[in-house]
Amino acid sequence: MTVAPILEIRKLTKRFGGVTAVDGVDFTLADGELRCLIGPNGAGKSTFFNCLSGQLAPTSGAVHLDGHDISGWPSHAIARLGVGIKTQVPSVFDGLEVRENVWLAARRRYNAREAKERCDELLTRLNIQSLAAHMVGELAHGQRQLVEIGMVIASDPRLILLDEPAAGMSRDEVARLAALISEIARERSLIVVDHDMRFIRMIAETVTVFHQGRVLIEGEVDKVLADAMVKDVYLGKQVV
Ligand SMILES: Nc1ncnc2c1ncn2[C@@H]1O[C@H](COP(=O)(O)OP(=O)(O)OP(=O)(O)O)[C@@H](O)[C@H]1O
Ligand SMILES: [Mg+2]
Repeated sequence: MTVAPILEIRKLTKRFGGVTAVDGVDFTLADGELRCLIGPNGAGKSTFFNCLSGQLAPTSGAVHLDGHDISGWPSHAIARLGVGIKTQVPSVFDGLEVRENVWLAARRRYNAREAKERCDELLTRLNIQSLAAHMVGELAHGQRQLVEIGMVIASDPRLILLDEPAAGMSRDEVARLAALISEIARERSLIVVDHDMRFIRMIAETVTVFHQGRVLIEGEVDKVLADAMVKDVYLGKQVV
């Protein structure tokens, strides 16, 4: 059975002056799919995400979400359609408690009482109840990443974009994050960008590789990670 795509992207291009960060990308994500996106530094992964979430307006090309052409829409309108993003740059309130951060994120969709329930549920699911009253600014990096992921899923987006969620996490934290993402993926569509290939192997089925703003290769995780071209673009860096 083929599932209708939640996301259909045609010839997406984003230029910054003379730099073409995303260069004519075609990309399709099935409803309910978990896709991993990898590629060396500067490949255009974050720019691609930011064009999908409306943080950046594409230079040209089309982004269709659930049949709506959302190219060039502002980020709040795209968020309202059910797209949640964890950007590479942290977007938490350091001076607020963990639960306040997650509650505020849930409040974007739910009323105050529902947001509290959603917040309690998420802190339990992320196993960070004991941190609820801690200021986010005092947390270790891996814990902050978990809070951010909680904030993204708090408003129940249909499509979740996570930009380097495993960055700076310990081995244990990465394994826990992988389990959490696999669980989320049962009920949502997800695109995950990361450089940690152990993590990618834990969660991925299909992987898309970006290189110089283009899709270099797309396919089953083991095949893609064993591909000579992919090893080549990482220039000897440990891919597998
Ligand atoms: N706001 C910007 N202004 C100018 N150039 C930019 C801007 N954002 C990104 N770029 C350039 O676009 C290209 C793609 O950058 P991008 O951040 O999308 O790559 P990435 O794949 O996310 O890399 P990384 O793995 O290091 O996060 C790079 O050449 C980068 O310098
Ligand atoms: Mg990036």
